[in-house]
Amino acid sequence: MNNFVYHNPTELIFGKGQLSLLQEKAKQLGSTVLIVYGGGSIKRSGLYDKTVSLLQDAGCRVLELPGVEPNPRLSTVKKGIEICRQEGVDWILAVGGGSVIDAAKAVAVGVPYEGDVWDFYSRVAQPQAALPLGTVLTLAATGSEMNRGSVVTNWETQEKHGGTTTFPTFSILDPENTFTVPRDQTIYGISDIMSHVFEQYFSHTPEIPLQTRFAESILKTVIENAERVLENPEDYDARANILYCGTMALNGTLPVGVETDWATHSIEHAVSAIYDIPHGGGLAIIFPNWMRYVYRENVARFTRFAVEVWNVDPTGKSDEEVALEGIAAVEAFFARIGAPTRLADYQIGDDKLQVMAEKATPFGPIGSFKKLTSEDVAEILRMSL
Ligand code: NZQ
Ligand code: ZN
Repeated sequence: MNNFVYHNPTELIFGKGQLSLLQEKAKQLGSTVLIVYGGGSIKRSGLYDKTVSLLQDAGCRVLELPGVEPNPRLSTVKKGIEICRQEGVDWILAVGGGSVIDAAKAVAVGVPYEGDVWDFYSRVAQPQAALPLGTVLTLAATGSEMNRGSVVTNWETQEKHGGTTTFPTFSILDPENTFTVPRDQTIYGISDIMSHVFEQYFSHTPEIPLQTRFAESILKTVIENAERVLENPEDYDARANILYCGTMALNGTLPVGVETDWATHSIEHAVSAIYDIPHGGGLAIIFPNWMRYVYRENVARFTRFAVEVWNVDPTGKSDEEVALEGIAAVEAFFARIGAPTRLADYQIGDDKLQVMAEKATPFGPIGSFKKLTSEDVAEILRMSL
């Protein structure tokens, strides 16, 4: 196991009716708040009205940044920074999915920064200060509610990058707020959560049994609950379990002491920077192909994955056969829940394949399980067409 320092300061407030704790938080964080939200799902569900009235009852002046796009845009983030500076905003509340939270994080670190907030995404600078940020999560997927990552798209340059920004001070997760997530977004969320685990599970670091079993438990729990939640979107326990898995998959628990990969995320970000496809959809397509491209680097890890997570029976089979059966099981699972399986499902052909491969590797080779050059990425994308 490698050395590590683990620190996660986000207060996780989980369960039915927990939104009521927002008032107490508002009183601690200041009287002028910017609420950040997306294209209107929180208005349709009634969550917007509930949130605003709780904030007003706590004595807050409430300002708004509506209309955050899925794959949030730098231009929207800049609008939020302007509002905060002009109005003297004390803290920010993101109400929505990962895109809303990521945009709110960018605003939070952009306000006290004199340069261009894009510097944090193009690796020119690291944030030194941030406005306090709370979140009310409405979609199980990114883990953004309990980490300091944020992914923003610069539409002018067609670049989508992740930056290290700020942890939310608190996050409120009520599974009932995810009941209205449409079927396709539920599927994308499931694929994103599983992909986060894959990125941290496929590692060459030896002797990491606890991290390995944590990862397998998350995958098994998602697999057990996925079809349940798709059959009945208002199944509280299934939604709750998937929601908690989403947080645990990317809150810093899995990568402690482990060398992690993240190449597939970089590849997907390059695809969605050009084609603006849903993140989880892109991952479901690319991940099985990444696995087929790299599994020979550590066949034992893939055979374990096949047996422990997918119940592949190894009797009478070579290690390689078992590993490949596990990868086929991932692909079959994504197909069974209705995830896209080929780039063609998004009308993506091979015309921009090379451009995407270059965009996925702007700072050099990516990944650690197998270091991938732009040629490797182009091959994985070709396998995904
Ligand atoms: O915009 P609204 O109207 O709110 O609708 C959203 C949006 O259309 C809708 N939605 C969300 N909650 C809902 C709901 N509709 C009905 N009922 C609800 N309760 O779902 C759509 C997608 O929302 P979005 O926030 O884009 O989805 P997600 O949470 O999957 O976030 C995706 C973004 O996060 C980034 C991705 O790259 C992408 O930009 N990621 C962020 C990470 C992080 N910060 O740690 C890590 C991830 O790997 C990922 O890269
Ligand atoms: Zn992701």
